Amino acid sequence: MAAIKPYYAPGSLSAAFYDLVTAADAALAGDVAVYAQLAPAGGSILELGAGSGRVTVALAERGFPVTGIDISRAMLAQAERRRAGLAPEIAERMAFRLGDMTALDLKRRFDLVVCPYFGLAHVPAGAAWKNSFATAARHLASGGLAAFHLPLLALMRQASQPDPKAVVLDEPIPGGGRLRLRVLERRFREGVGRLEQVIEYEALDAKGTTVRRSAERLSYYMADPAPLAAAAGLALDRAPIALGGVGDIWVFRNI
Ligand SMILES: C[S@@+](CC[C@H](N)C(=O)[O-])C[C@H]1O[C@@H](n2cnc3c(N)ncnc32)[C@H](O)[C@@H]1O
Repeated sequence: MAAIKPYYAPGSLSAAFYDLVTAADAALAGDVAVYAQLAPAGGSILELGAGSGRVTVALAERGFPVTGIDISRAMLAQAERRRAGLAPEIAERMAFRLGDMTALDLKRRFDLVVCPYFGLAHVPAGAAWKNSFATAARHLASGGLAAFHLPLLALMRQASQPDPKAVVLDEPIPGGGRLRLRVLERRFREGVGRLEQVIEYEALDAKGTTVRRSAERLSYYMADPAPLAAAAGLALDRAPIALGGVGDIWVFRNI
């Protein structure tokens, strides 16, 4: 097998096909509405791990000025391409920056911080989580809210050895071809609370010939976020909001 790439790396198919795969993911339905309800009308929003701008654009379309930061240049390049195709009054409400959520300091405050679709779960659940919560606190006024969408630990623990030949997603792609995903490896490491997956992306042309194939590693970390958030000055504001049966949106208040 060719070398396994990290998710969202330059040239990765996880970045190239992120929008297509995410659009097919029913577990994310309604997430933007939850974030929008947490901000005052027209309030400024900082998105940690903005990726290709799925949530950034949807919030800007609802009238919120949004700054999205991400560590992946490949994902930000897609976000900028998406922004360039929008109406000027929407595009001007959005800004993207390269940045690491564990160490960001934009030297300004926002009305809401969001970290959608398991963004925080990409970094280890220890000092990196505490530093990311500190980033949220640093960018919020006293009393401001921060929302982090995190996976369900119980589901991660159920991870079983996958059938590497089984197609788990088969979607049409522009040009008449198809994208097929298979899970080559999946296991949960209890000691570090990490779900490790290797996902194979296969792009086929309209004749069914494989034109690109890439195995990419996706890891998610999960632990109780409340103590780490508290250590950074964020208090749990309400019971976690269930989303799509695979995760919860945890809402914290900057105290
Ligand atoms: C699943 S995507 C979510 C993208 C977008 N927010 C959405 O909901 O569709 C997670 C994103 O987090 C980014 N990410 C991972 N670690 C990061 C870090 N330390 N700092 C900033 N972004 C990070 C990844 O590059 C990726 O674009």
